Amino acid sequence: MNFGPLIFLGIFLSLASSWCGLILIPLFQFGKMEPVTIEMTGEIYPQPKGGEAKQGMSVYRSNGCIYCHSQQVRPRGFGADIERGWGSRRSVGRDYIYDNPVLLGTMRTGPDLTNIGQRQPSEDWHFSHLYDPQITSPGSNMPPYRFLFETRPIRNGVVSENALKLPANFAPEDGFEIVPKKEAKALVAYLLSLQATAPLPEAR
Ligand code: HEC
Repeated sequence: MNFGPLIFLGIFLSLASSWCGLILIPLFQFGKMEPVTIEMTGEIYPQPKGGEAKQGMSVYRSNGCIYCHSQQVRPRGFGADIERGWGSRRSVGRDYIYDNPVLLGTMRTGPDLTNIGQRQPSEDWHFSHLYDPQITSPGSNMPPYRFLFETRPIRNGVVSENALKLPANFAPEDGFEIVPKKEAKALVAYLLSLQATAPLPEAR
């Protein structure tokens, strides 16, 4: 007996059912999701990222931050994310409607960054941390991203406004200063934009 058509049908059905489950049904659930107005504040959430923060998202992608950092807060009872202070509520589909691609991440060698803009709002902190994580977090196993900064001679004896304020053991030679390149500025703008705190009804 020729089992060819039966085997074909079996393969077709299993591929078709996973396509429905993984693509079609999520598309119906999330595909037409719109931003909402938050009742308490009148604010529209989420907002698309603009300018520098948007560029920073590609710096984040190209530097592999996603290999160590997630951007998804699990609900209470499914992990200690909220207890750890990684978010005030769980993440929901609506949080990501403007992200393309969505940078959920799969590994947590470092903390979740869904709300890092709120948890650590200081630009200076982020610049020092990216330049060398040992400055702000001794013992950290996050790699330094020094290539996002430029070491240059101090011009006319006046230190630039955006020069890093580093502790003595990380400071450059006398007469030099370290300033963030545009990639570092964009990356920090992106990190500061990561704030998913709006109280969405479906996230309660
Ligand atoms: C090899 C893994 C690894 C990579 C790659 C990595 N990180 Fe980290 N990151 C960590 C670890 C571990 C910590 C916790 C210790 C610390 O603060 O440095 C951390 C901490 C952080 C924090 C502070 C989080 C908090 O809650 O205080 C930020 C912000 C951050 N990383 C951003 C980045 C960005 C941006 C990139 C890409 C340019 C990146 N990380 C790449 C491992 C990594």
